Amino acid sequence: MKMQFKNSWFRRSSCPTQSAEACLLLGAQKPSTAANCPIDLQKAAQYLVFVRIKSLTNFVFFLTAVFLVGCGCKTLNFSRQTNANLSTQTIRPGTVWPDDRGRHIQAHGAGILKLGDTFYLFGEDRTQTNDPEKRYVACYSSHDLSHWHFCRQVVQLADPEHIGTGWVLERPKVYYNASKRKFVMYAHLDDNIYSMARVAVLECDQVDGDYHYLKSLRPLGHESRDLGQFVDDDGTPYLLSEDRPNGFRIYQLSEDYLSIAKDVCLVPEHLEGLALVHYGGLYYVVGSHLTGWDANPNVYATASSLTGPWSAFADIAPPEMKTYGSQSTFLLKVVGTKTTNVVFMADLWEPDTLWDSRYLWMPLRIGDGKLWLPKPCDWKINIGTGEFTLIKTIPSGNKTPVRTEANQ
Ligand code: DGJ
Repeated sequence: MKMQFKNSWFRRSSCPTQSAEACLLLGAQKPSTAANCPIDLQKAAQYLVFVRIKSLTNFVFFLTAVFLVGCGCKTLNFSRQTNANLSTQTIRPGTVWPDDRGRHIQAHGAGILKLGDTFYLFGEDRTQTNDPEKRYVACYSSHDLSHWHFCRQVVQLADPEHIGTGWVLERPKVYYNASKRKFVMYAHLDDNIYSMARVAVLECDQVDGDYHYLKSLRPLGHESRDLGQFVDDDGTPYLLSEDRPNGFRIYQLSEDYLSIAKDVCLVPEHLEGLALVHYGGLYYVVGSHLTGWDANPNVYATASSLTGPWSAFADIAPPEMKTYGSQSTFLLKVVGTKTTNVVFMADLWEPDTLWDSRYLWMPLRIGDGKLWLPKPCDWKINIGTGEFTLIKTIPSGNKTPVRTEANQ
């Protein structure tokens, strides 16, 4: 796997625990096997059966011993697995993030849909071995935002409109239309030079089923490149869309979620990677400047209504850090029994090896019209209470503080 400096904060190669933790995670997926047992059961059995078993009492003793040793091995493996799982509750920005198969999560340009107590993560699946003619969206599920079960590639789409080599399907977002019991996916559809500027609409009966391509559109005739998703507290679905000539727009979806009902607001700011959240009575929108795959200082604005007026845009982090090498994709509100927090979800793009792009997820400091992305560090969230804990150093036994540049 390629290791390189992403920016002054993001130094993958400097993390000594990365592979160790990945191994631990992988180990946690392995089923318990006899091979893990430190006692050679076969030899013990031969010895007992052929040399020592002389009476029924001895035989009963032998069976009991085998049973107890077996239980002991199982217990050992079980506790190892639990410890491994406990250690991986930590969310570690910038690292390889293995799913329950031990493979780096493929959910780039992602969004999250929560159903009951399950989070469903959808994103671009850039697996290196994918068919280069097709485009893929993966779906994962989780109850804690840390452990992700790979559901499946819910989109394995061949060029749907004869667009040609290098066609693009990016930033998939899934909505649940409860009245129609349908899952509707929106994604950016384009050609290799991003000149089509359209939105693809796909549909499915199940959250993690095969999404069927329905059509593409330009929202109310406007160009649409990067798109984002917002569902308001009352369930109304909105599409955020970069409209290159004008800025970005907030659209309300139609009743069946399959088209655009109205243009709620044009914000005359040229931003992409759009994400929006409603928190403490205010709407906060975050976006990235238009610098392709390269990181830039992401910014935010607030409004008391989606129609605006929106405040002036301000930096979400020290501008020289360029959002710590990342680009916004989604704002996840976690409502717990004690508190509500908002998680900033962003991509650390590797344009030449997109499958190796990492993620920067961090709880935001947000409220009273202010939004701030803390310098990235490991963290944990308690989904039940909504509380999070920042962990300032990587728990590796290595005493070196991590990401010292960001600490300055
Ligand atoms: C920036 C966008 O945010 C990404 O989704 C991707 O389209 C790149 N541009 C391509 O350059």
